[in-house]
Amino acid sequence: MSTDRVKRVCVIGASGKLGQYMVRLALERGYEVVGVCRERSVPKLAAFKDRITVVPGPTDDPEVIRRAVDGCDGVLTVLVPWGVRQYASGTAQAVLDHARPGARLVFSCGWHITRDGKDTYSRMFTLGVRIAAVVGKLVRAVEIDDQVEACRRVFDSGTRWTVVRGSTLEEGDSQGLPVWSAHVGDPVLASDRTRRVDFALFMVEALTDDTLVREAPAIVGRLTPSALAHADGTRDHA
Ligand SMILES: NC(=O)c1ccc[n+]([C@@H]2O[C@H](COP(=O)([O-])OP(=O)(O)OC[C@H]3O[C@@H](n4cnc5c(N)ncnc54)[C@H](OP(=O)(O)O)[C@@H]3O)[C@@H](O)[C@H]2O)c1
Repeated sequence: MSTDRVKRVCVIGASGKLGQYMVRLALERGYEVVGVCRERSVPKLAAFKDRITVVPGPTDDPEVIRRAVDGCDGVLTVLVPWGVRQYASGTAQAVLDHARPGARLVFSCGWHITRDGKDTYSRMFTLGVRIAAVVGKLVRAVEIDDQVEACRRVFDSGTRWTVVRGSTLEEGDSQGLPVWSAHVGDPVLASDRTRRVDFALFMVEALTDDTLVREAPAIVGRLTPSALAHADGTRDHA
């Protein structure tokens, strides 16, 4: 662990559920926090008024991101595939282009992202992702392919990245730091449930965990049945 390097952190997509959890956790750790969110979503950050700096704007706007990440040691990015205008890849690219060299960059996505093709998915999961990709694009609401492209750019970058791959999310009290595996298909992940607050916890902890640099951990709640049954044999960094 290297905790001393991180002082100022940018949360991109700060107004969403995951983003707000990350803002709270980052403040609890004593980090100075800059949040980026769409202009109309700024009121969602009212609870943090006076404690964080908000840079309003689209997260794929290079100028917005350049201003927001200035001087930040860590950047926590919520990568979302909404719309059909390359929002996820635009957001990732802006972060890759403007974060300071050496900054810790942590991105969120789902299990459907694969880094090395060694993940194994159930037929149901693969079918679900395909349907979401096709229908999402047809109704111009979701662009799964672009989230894949965003992550490809992150994987190919020379930055100090971590791509955290979340299972199905649920609300609820924290169960502690999720356990993780390098590959979907590992029995430890079978329960496919993570508390959203714990997804945020994993992202924030990753800022200071150098063992996660250039890793794409797939996470699951640490108190889920599969984690309790199999955690010993996995790369559990809790
Ligand atoms: N939901 C799940 O079960 C699940 C499962 C696995 C992985 N994940 C991953 O977890 C992360 C967070 O997902 P979440 O479901 O929990 O979402 P979330 O935290 O509620 O965040 C949604 C984000 O998307 C933004 N957004 C919503 N509609 C938008 C639009 N039309 N254009 C641009 N931005 C828009 C929101 O900004 P505003 O506040 O401005 O609306 C917010 O920043 C994502 O990386 C996702 O891939 C989610």
